Amino acid sequence: MKIAILFGGQSAEHNVSRKSAYSVIKNIDTELFEIVTIGITKKGMWLPYYGAAEAIPDGSWEKSIAYEAQNPIGNCLDIISSCDVVFPVLHGQNGEDGTVQGLLELLGVPYVGCGILSSAACMDKFCVKSILRYAKIPQCRYVAVYRHVLEQDINAYNAEIAEKIGYPCFVKPAGGGSSVGVHKVKTEAKLHEALLDAQKFDRKVLVEEFVDGREIECAVLGNSNAKAAAPGEIIPSKEFYDYEDKYIKNESRQCIPADIPPETAQSIKNLALRAYNALDCSGLARVDFFLKKDGTVLLNEINTMPGFTEISMYSKMWEAEGMSFKSLITELINLAFSRKNETSRHT
Ligand SMILES: Nc1ncnc2c1ncn2[C@@H]1O[C@H](COP(=O)(O)OP(=O)(O)O)[C@@H](O)[C@H]1O
Ligand SMILES: [Mg+2]
Repeated sequence: MKIAILFGGQSAEHNVSRKSAYSVIKNIDTELFEIVTIGITKKGMWLPYYGAAEAIPDGSWEKSIAYEAQNPIGNCLDIISSCDVVFPVLHGQNGEDGTVQGLLELLGVPYVGCGILSSAACMDKFCVKSILRYAKIPQCRYVAVYRHVLEQDINAYNAEIAEKIGYPCFVKPAGGGSSVGVHKVKTEAKLHEALLDAQKFDRKVLVEEFVDGREIECAVLGNSNAKAAAPGEIIPSKEFYDYEDKYIKNESRQCIPADIPPETAQSIKNLALRAYNALDCSGLARVDFFLKKDGTVLLNEINTMPGFTEISMYSKMWEAEGMSFKSLITELINLAFSRKNETSRHT
């Protein structure tokens, strides 16, 4: 079977996607799948890439391509249409947010992961919160902040934040990922700076209460009858799990499975599956939680295309359940086909 692997993307998480795609390429079952790679540059240019996979993680793949000679997206769409299935290993905007999923729906090619609706909903942390509230899934207190209001008055939300949230608080772009634009703010004096930075990444920004808790992640796999793996724990090496800690310092620790009471693990798995279904996810998602000292569990966010880098949790949590990375990728591809069948409609 021919599989198109999409990597890069016009996103703040472009570099992470290159690393994720490399791991997928290195672990896919080459007896079953013939790989075609398509890179998307930071500027959004789609380029078929025939070179070595080793040039993908550091970005040097781009240098080997003569851009001018290409009619990039047209060529790529023809290539994708000739494939049996697509794995969009893309994180963040223009890839994990329903845009590419929409394009693949139009092309009629099965693809790995969530569809348009769930991809778009989960990418917007504000939208997720509204749906979680409706589904009665516990989460932290938050205030939604809009760029156009800040532009009129940078202090517009101060009173609401002080009253509902207090300090320290967390400021993050609604459409963020990989901790880009995320700030822990300790005093009101530092709030503006954080808001100004976060609103660069999205016109909607969330201000959340600071949750003093352990970070527990739960891997979910499947379509209508999805299952959850035993949760894992991330122990950041810094004050919080920021971009540097995630991808550069390599000093945060992981504990798989998380050292938590069995009943807590079970309730996290149940919440993860409830959230997965409430958001109409399919294929896969990593659902992230905070676990407070008093045992309270709060859902933090849902990642529809979690990292697949060497240090990423998602595949490791399935490995701990006895599923190799290779068979996980095969399963994800099988799920792409079954979702295509499930979602096909009479026109
Ligand atoms: N409300 C919060 N309380 C405490 N820590 C938080 C809170 N929100 C985010 N964090 C910290 O910031 C990190 C990144 O935030 P997150 O919402 O997961 O965004 P991203 O999509 O960028 O991963 C989390 O892993 C956690 O360490
Ligand atoms: Mg996160």
